Amino acid sequence: MNRIFSFSLVLVVSFTLPGYAQRKTIDQRVDSLMKLMTLAEKVGQLNQYSGREVTGPASDRKNYLLNDIKNGKVGSMLNVKGVKDTREIQSIALQSRLKIPLLFSLDVIHGYKTVFPIPLAESASWDLDIIKQSAQVAATESAASGIHWTFAPMVDIARDPRWGRVMEGAGEDTYLGAQIAKTRVLGFQGEQLGAVDRIMACAKHFAAYGASMAGRDYNPVDISEQQLHEIYLPPFKAAADAGVATFMNSFNTFNGIPATGNAYLQRDILKGQWNYKGFVVSDWGSIKEMTPWGFAKNLNYAAEKAILAGSDMDMESEAYKKELENLVNNGKVDLKYVDEAVRRILYKKFELGLFDNPYKFSDEKREAKVMNDPKYKDIAKLAAQKSIVLLKNDNATLPLSKGLKNIALIGPLVNAKRDQAGSWVVYADTANMVSVYEGLQKKYAKNVKLSYAQGTGIDDALTNGFPEAVNAAKNADVVVMVLGESWDMSGEAKSRTDICLPGQQEALFKAVKATGKPVVVVLMAGRPLVFNTIAAQADAIVYAWFLGDQGGNAIADVLVGDYNPSGKLPISFPRNVGQIPIFYNYYNTGRPVTKPSDIRYKSAYIDSPNDPRFAFGHGLSYTTFAYNDLKLDQATLQKGQSLKLSFKLTNTGKVVGEEVAQLYIHDQFASIVRPVKELKDFVKVKLKPGESKVINFELTPEKLAFYQEKIGWTTEPGTFKVMIGTASNDIKLEGNFELK
Ligand code: GLC
Repeated sequence: MNRIFSFSLVLVVSFTLPGYAQRKTIDQRVDSLMKLMTLAEKVGQLNQYSGREVTGPASDRKNYLLNDIKNGKVGSMLNVKGVKDTREIQSIALQSRLKIPLLFSLDVIHGYKTVFPIPLAESASWDLDIIKQSAQVAATESAASGIHWTFAPMVDIARDPRWGRVMEGAGEDTYLGAQIAKTRVLGFQGEQLGAVDRIMACAKHFAAYGASMAGRDYNPVDISEQQLHEIYLPPFKAAADAGVATFMNSFNTFNGIPATGNAYLQRDILKGQWNYKGFVVSDWGSIKEMTPWGFAKNLNYAAEKAILAGSDMDMESEAYKKELENLVNNGKVDLKYVDEAVRRILYKKFELGLFDNPYKFSDEKREAKVMNDPKYKDIAKLAAQKSIVLLKNDNATLPLSKGLKNIALIGPLVNAKRDQAGSWVVYADTANMVSVYEGLQKKYAKNVKLSYAQGTGIDDALTNGFPEAVNAAKNADVVVMVLGESWDMSGEAKSRTDICLPGQQEALFKAVKATGKPVVVVLMAGRPLVFNTIAAQADAIVYAWFLGDQGGNAIADVLVGDYNPSGKLPISFPRNVGQIPIFYNYYNTGRPVTKPSDIRYKSAYIDSPNDPRFAFGHGLSYTTFAYNDLKLDQATLQKGQSLKLSFKLTNTGKVVGEEVAQLYIHDQFASIVRPVKELKDFVKVKLKPGESKVINFELTPEKLAFYQEKIGWTTEPGTFKVMIGTASNDIKLEGNFELK
């Protein structure tokens, strides 16, 4: 090949592969910078502190932290937000010798200025488009406020609603959780990091934090490697495959070793098998917590174990700050481990463009413009509408007639605003929030009486408000009760041993129901609750989770029929806490209950049915849907082939509606037992009355595979059942195929 041709070929190749060219350039820039860095400056990049102490009045500030920043001993700050503060703190960092900019991070979990439904609620929408839009708005608002990095999506699969952090994830199912993980990462980050309206995302908490023993936060996790890989890791892998910039490890142990010091998780799996190139931040103080765990005898050993296990950045432990230089200088830790961590972190700072313009995300004009954009309220309202789940609707009690003359609004959450923002909210600005009372007021003319009685508190023993509530009910055409948890009864460190409706709320319901009036119950919570009396006796039940700013409007839209509810449960609702862990993809056992009446010597309880109060995938509509004409493109599948299936979905009711059709499989016999059902695809379809649509699904070999220890993901020949349904316990179509 002549020289000119070969030179131009190289030129063409390097400029036509932007990803490769960019990576090569950034790698070169990282190499050049690292050659200049002292060990102290390298360790500095691995330290992250909370920013509460470096902003605000001078008297409140921790000067040692400001000095560390000025001397290049801090790589990132969390909890510093707003253009003014981020500019100020960044300017201090740029006084350091090498002027390495800081990363500003924050828990933007379900919105920044505009508060969206909590993640568990959004997961109930099964609507990947609105979930992406929600993350994009959060990224746009927070990026305009100087934030580079959010500690979201939380992708922990959770089967235990005693655990308060179920509110933060996507529920119990691995497939749904993986789809949502990927969607949220792309929503926050965009296709390529560096845009001024996108931020780094963080897949957390690695790994299996949702399996904390007894649903108690910060507790051990002891599960098999098979369950780890099959149930808990796929959403993390989906996030990694979507390019998530960072991972955060978890407070729990995995089989006796704290995650932050667990080389199997962080080196073998994440950075090894998955070849992950981003960086891992420890969860708040998790490195130093290895001492109370009884794993590290002191901070020095904790720092050593953490860096060797692949924890790149130390959030708030000060373990790396205090111990890492000595560990390297004493030969206990090879410099290569520090260099690897520094490289991963600097790479992201270059990728964001912070070396080219450290203030790129701190633009006052953009901040002012973005923060008050009304279009984000519309997106928040749509997300809220789509997240609402209609659990029960006897005798078409809902939607409420617009001709009603007197509606009694009863319960401690009728006027709730802050509660609707849920946990993990950045600005609890109630001025932007809409209560159910306010939402309904907009729906009814002035001459319709909306009477209000609180009846009782959320979690108190008071019943002296009952008579007023009962009286309001007696004088009304219909009663709408708004009950549930307060915002701070779920979230981090909010595990509950009793997940019944708190206080006297169910007693209040009984008193109101005794009036004989139709009673609609709206439930707000950050988790599945137990409410058996209401489930049995209410005429209609709407699960509203915590829906954010627009909750009151969205709930009112559903109550009066201006929006036809389309949500489906992403997590099973137990009949009682004794059934936990309860999930739809259970194993059949050798003694399955085939007839509820026959539980003698069967895998059953003598005091409760096995099935949940409300099943995974359950959610009603104001219309009805018919499922017909299931077709499989082949009855026998060769190994490595995909199966294509189709069916016809029809809106057989009188109003427009959205249906979430779910595809489940059951691998009937395998070398390790398989769940009776596994979600493998879903689609949310909007249909007019009488309208039909042919839905196509595909079962790829990956969807038929299962994980075996020491073997990994494989398929095995055998008989598979396919099921298509409107809920995991409401299958409409079934078929079978053989896999060779
Ligand atoms: C908390 C949480 C984690 C959060 C971090 C920073 O303890 O476990 O999810 O991102 O600290 O606030």
